[in-house]
Amino acid sequence: MLASPLALYVHLPWCVRKCPYCDFNSHVVPAAGLPESAYLEALLDDLEFAARDCAGRELVSVFLGGGTPSLFAAQSVNRILERAGRLFRAVPDLEVTLEANPGTVERGRFADYRAAGVTRVSLGAQSFDDERLAALGRIHSSRETLAAVAELRAAGLDNFNLDLMYALPAQSLQGALDDLEQALRLEPAHVSHYQLTLEPGTAFERRPPPLPDDEAAFAMQDACESRLAAAGFGQYEVSAYAAAGRECRHNLNYWRFGDYLGIGAGAHGKLTDPVAGAVVRTARVRQPGRYLAADTPAARVEESRRVSPDELAFEFFLNALRLVEGFDAALFESRTGLSWASVAGPVAAAESRGLLRAEPWGRWTPTLLGRRFLNDLQALFLPGSVAATASTDPKGLALAARIG
Ligand SMILES: C[S@@+](CC[C@H](N)C(=O)[O-])C[C@H]1O[C@@H](n2cnc3c(N)ncnc32)[C@H](O)[C@@H]1O
Ligand code: SF4
Repeated sequence: MLASPLALYVHLPWCVRKCPYCDFNSHVVPAAGLPESAYLEALLDDLEFAARDCAGRELVSVFLGGGTPSLFAAQSVNRILERAGRLFRAVPDLEVTLEANPGTVERGRFADYRAAGVTRVSLGAQSFDDERLAALGRIHSSRETLAAVAELRAAGLDNFNLDLMYALPAQSLQGALDDLEQALRLEPAHVSHYQLTLEPGTAFERRPPPLPDDEAAFAMQDACESRLAAAGFGQYEVSAYAAAGRECRHNLNYWRFGDYLGIGAGAHGKLTDPVAGAVVRTARVRQPGRYLAADTPAARVEESRRVSPDELAFEFFLNALRLVEGFDAALFESRTGLSWASVAGPVAAAESRGLLRAEPWGRWTPTLLGRRFLNDLQALFLPGSVAATASTDPKGLALAARIG
């Protein structure tokens, strides 16, 4: 088991309005206003605390996610990045992504974010059809998305992603293609293309809108994938498409099962301790009010536990199977400390069902069928399906002992 690359995720949990489909840890801004300075101080304290566990490690990316991080001032973002810069050695050309909602972008704001250290913006466009945007309960129209992109360009932030959703209420195949066409006209560096899902606990789950059926949704995905490929966007993950060299490094690190610190309300982290041969998962207190009220950094930690070997194998595949590039034995062994032999059975089963393909140089990639039936593919690696005791090195043996 080797120390893997380290990323930093910062959660900013407030939004102007809660979208009816969203199950993220996001909350409407309180009537008393955004508690920006109190939250910023709590975040800085949390960051100092989290950094103690990974002194001297190199930082490969930062992602400010939400919620709606663009509700926070550039000055606040700068203070977080400045503190991170003092606590870690950053790689040259550090990727710093900020999520933004087109409805919260004031003139000049992206220039300030860029000056604060942001290098990449992920904009929640969702659709360019104002009727669809209204059905999704979005706070912005397509005009505001166009204006936000113009602001990005004016600020020199050309490394931007557009989030689009498809299979929207009453959407046709042509509607999904029209949305994508409008997005491509804005020449983004990256497109995230998500199928709208009805998540537990959301307003849409309680009162579902009329959605296209599975076949129609698949036809949309298929047609949009072809259009994206024709426009030069390579698919590198289930929902992620990028122009050459513009893949999101932060998300790639998750999918390659790298390490990350997660600070802020409800944020999750994952850290490898190669000496102890363990992977530790952390979660912060989810409710922003409780996160703010914590009087010590430790009181913000809701959970911190070592991952058992069979869970570890499953978590590796949950992530790596999303990648078009797939994985190889060396990545599996170095990130989990488990031996390849422990997963040879499920890998062979996936290959025989046509869900995984053996490539030259020992790589494995999901086939088209495997990508379409990703849940079935992932299920082959569920805890219990993996011979979890075998290990490549003595440190890995320590991992094989279930702790915590
Ligand atoms: C944290 S939000 C992005 C930033 C900002 N909060 C916004 O919505 O503009 C992350 C993205 O997840 C996607 N998303 C959220 N809920 C979803 C759902 N139920 N189905 C599919 N995609 C979803 C949306 O595309 C959204 O832009
Ligand atoms: S703006 Fe984004 S995070 Fe906030 S509720 Fe809507 S989808 Fe969720």
